[in-house]
Amino acid sequence: MDMTTRYLGLTLEHPVVASASPLSGTLDGIRRLEDAGAAAVVMPSLFEERIQREREALRGLSEVGAESHAEVPGGYFPAASLDSIGIGGEETLELIRRAREACDIPVIPSLNGTTARGWTHYAKLMQQAGAPAIELNVYYVAADVTESGAEVEDRVVGILDTVCAEVSVPVAVKLGPFYSAPGHLARRLVTAGATGLVLFNRFYQPEIDLQAMRALPTLDLSTSAEARLPLRWIGVLYGHVDDAALAATTGVQGAEDVMKYILAGADVVMTASALLRYGAGHMKTLVTGLRAFLEVGRYETVAQARGALSHKSVDDTAAYERANYLQVLDSFRPADFSP
Ligand SMILES: Cc1cc2nc3c(=O)[nH]c(=O)nc-3n(C[C@H](O)[C@H](O)[C@H](O)COP(=O)(O)O)c2cc1C
Repeated sequence: MDMTTRYLGLTLEHPVVASASPLSGTLDGIRRLEDAGAAAVVMPSLFEERIQREREALRGLSEVGAESHAEVPGGYFPAASLDSIGIGGEETLELIRRAREACDIPVIPSLNGTTARGWTHYAKLMQQAGAPAIELNVYYVAADVTESGAEVEDRVVGILDTVCAEVSVPVAVKLGPFYSAPGHLARRLVTAGATGLVLFNRFYQPEIDLQAMRALPTLDLSTSAEARLPLRWIGVLYGHVDDAALAATTGVQGAEDVMKYILAGADVVMTASALLRYGAGHMKTLVTGLRAFLEVGRYETVAQARGALSHKSVDDTAAYERANYLQVLDSFRPADFSP
């Protein structure tokens, strides 16, 4: 069985990749994922906020150094800890360097921000540290109701432009699903230089705590049912963004979820929640299970299975379109829910 896969100019042994999570935030963690059979690993993001805070702290330090006495009780740093936002800039670069030396699989760093200002030079530093490619995560919640859809999209393309101007390595964009025309934006990003699209960012939704009377951010691990949204868009985009690879993220718990994403058209399939839930060793289960599914389907290569059930390949495209809405409503039987 040939499961070889191309992603971001890299040749991977198979299509199952560990996506950004705390599991890949240390060299030991990355090695564990490699030992468990990950074809590639994405590091936790370096956040724009973190870069800005580090820069402000440095600026504060140099001003203090120039103007005042060194022994001030309590120190000069802001009260909030820099450690509270992901891993730091220098830590990220050092991890890229060490992973490059210690691992045989590609280890891809991730940059995460929402403006095109000030922090994107880290892309160049990442490349210089040995990054084989960069994942750019634009986790943007368009909560400003005066901002138009066109402005939101321009923002994403503008950030990509700035990052692409910094580096020569391939750049993948990790996108959220909440655009009025995700396919059009995807194509715009590919034209602007994205060589991969990672679909989709999983937005962490607020919860209302009735006891505390507060709105709280929440982070639950995903379930397989959540794979359907990215699955639809992978299926729709397959064959329409030929210059870019499609990476699926969200909802992969078992090998059947990996196989479904491949059939929809994913080049690589990423997983984080399942690895956090079952441990890094679960990677082996996913890869072995994918191989088994391919064998049962009598595929000789993963490439033969890729996109076999995409929008482009199925005779009846209803499942990917509005018609699906009508069929699903029509198929509902109240009796299905009786106790
Ligand atoms: C605890 C945790 C930390 C994460 N950190 C990052 C991150 O730093 N950058 C990023 O792009 N995605 C991050 N993600 C998102 C995952 O990479 C992944 O895209 C998302 O969880 C959906 O995949 P899943 O259903 O397999 O979990 C994180 C997810 C979890 C659960």
